[in-house]
Amino acid sequence: MESKHILIISASVRKGRRSHNVALFFQNFLQEKYQIKASIADLKDYHFPIFEERLRFLENPSAQVLELSDRIKQSDGLIIVSPEYNGGYPASLKNVIDLYYDEWKRKPIAISTVSDGGFGGAQALTSLQFQLWKIGALTIPAMFPVPNVGNNYNDQGEPTDKEGAHKRATNFINELFYWIEAKKLKEANS
Ligand SMILES: Cc1cc2nc3c(=O)[nH]c(=O)nc-3n(C[C@H](O)[C@H](O)[C@H](O)COP(=O)(O)O)c2cc1C
Repeated sequence: MESKHILIISASVRKGRRSHNVALFFQNFLQEKYQIKASIADLKDYHFPIFEERLRFLENPSAQVLELSDRIKQSDGLIIVSPEYNGGYPASLKNVIDLYYDEWKRKPIAISTVSDGGFGGAQALTSLQFQLWKIGALTIPAMFPVPNVGNNYNDQGEPTDKEGAHKRATNFINELFYWIEAKKLKEANS
């Protein structure tokens, strides 16, 4: 299989965050199972100021804003790992969704929502899917909800139930790959 460039966006910028462990899990899983060196775009490292204007209208965008734009553009597909806060996704993520535009266009995106509670961020999922759809991304029809994250993933991204996590991750990633391949075929034939 041709190698793919997968970018994982880790959306929590909170000290003591737990959803980042799921981003680490996907990075390890892609390497272990598919020999893909996925990189993580950690929004905590980017530390962007609150959104004022879209990149295409900024007169002097920062090097970091341009760098993340480039990383998204260069990727074949994305995995977004988002915590659930009060039934939604965090401001850090909305901040970067609104910042970019062309970067998202027809970009295959798989969403993993993460919560402390028992529902795996299910309430954050629909709004995130909708807003990515609205901006023209290709949100894939597979989910990877993670409930009770503190019990289920350690700080190295290792799942407590490795077999179960790998089985669900395989279905999730295969769906992402399907849409990446479908897009490549379409582009090759047009
Ligand atoms: C502001 C805030 C709101 C939260 N709201 C919810 C919630 O609605 N449902 C839930 O299950 N967990 C909620 N949590 C717990 C997070 O889901 C939990 O911290 C989880 O680890 C993912 O976020 P993190 O990556 O920032 O740690 C909330 C946490 C914060 C900081």
